[in-house]
Amino acid sequence: MIKAKNLKIGYEQKVIIEDLSIEIKKGEILSIIGPNGCGKSTLLKTLSRIIKPIDGEIFIKDTNIKTIKNKTISKNICLLSQHNEAPFDLTVEELVYFGRMPHKKWYETKNEEDKELVDWAIENTGLTRYKNTPIGALSGGERQRAYIAQALCQKPEVLLLDEPTTYLDISHQLELMELVKEINQKFNITIVMVLHELNQASKYSDRLLIMKCGKIVCDGCPNKVINKDIIKKVYSIDCDIDKDPICKKPRIHPIQTIKVV
Ligand SMILES: Nc1ncnc2c1ncn2[C@@H]1O[C@H](COP(=O)(O)OP(=O)(O)OP(=O)(O)O)[C@@H](O)[C@H]1O
Ligand SMILES: [Mg+2]
Repeated sequence: MIKAKNLKIGYEQKVIIEDLSIEIKKGEILSIIGPNGCGKSTLLKTLSRIIKPIDGEIFIKDTNIKTIKNKTISKNICLLSQHNEAPFDLTVEELVYFGRMPHKKWYETKNEEDKELVDWAIENTGLTRYKNTPIGALSGGERQRAYIAQALCQKPEVLLLDEPTTYLDISHQLELMELVKEINQKFNITIVMVLHELNQASKYSDRLLIMKCGKIVCDGCPNKVINKDIIKKVYSIDCDIDKDPICKKPRIHPIQTIKVV
């Protein structure tokens, strides 16, 4: 679905990612984990062409993204970034409708198909009763769902989510993770997300990619990636690991930080 080869990415003179290659398969849920500042958001922004790599190539379905029009990119990939800043007086319906923009010409107005899709996205994210509510009057979890509805309305093949559960309480975190899983299964949308909650990443992902200092430390199924040595190397903590009795995925119990002297 997406292939990135030998990416070198940085800001002005500062190189963040030296040489990173990754392949994302159609229909998978991939979570990127790693310490603050290791380059996770930078990688997502590069995959969605917000940042141009210094070197390396990115292909979407075998086409180099350099040659794809902006609108076509938006139909293929949608990034929900770490900080969303839509005007608070937009209603849920108006916000979600923005997701239709990549599919429309500048002179086209909202038609029946758009209306149906907007309603469909609002319904599938459980926001029907908030359709006419300004997003500024929603709770953090509801607002996050409204952004997901906007992304759904865009009907992308790949949805990139940068820390979608930040600021949410535990119940809304689970609700959002379940929504992401449902979107993946129901609509076969490939999901790439950045998460800090390692147990959620393990539980909801088919594959984990763990990064440190701009490099991939380990890439594979949660059973392979979540092990004491890797967690120690990446986060400098000791932990215990067992299996979640319900989903059978590895579960981490942090013990203590390791002082680096
Ligand atoms: N616009 C920018 N200009 C210059 N440097 C930047 C910019 N954005 C990020 N950086 C730097 O790039 C590095 C990687 O940042 P990035 O946001 O990708 O990290 P991250 O892994 O997403 O971290 P977090 O978990 O805190 O969100 C950091 O050292 C950061 O300071
Ligand atoms: Mg980030």
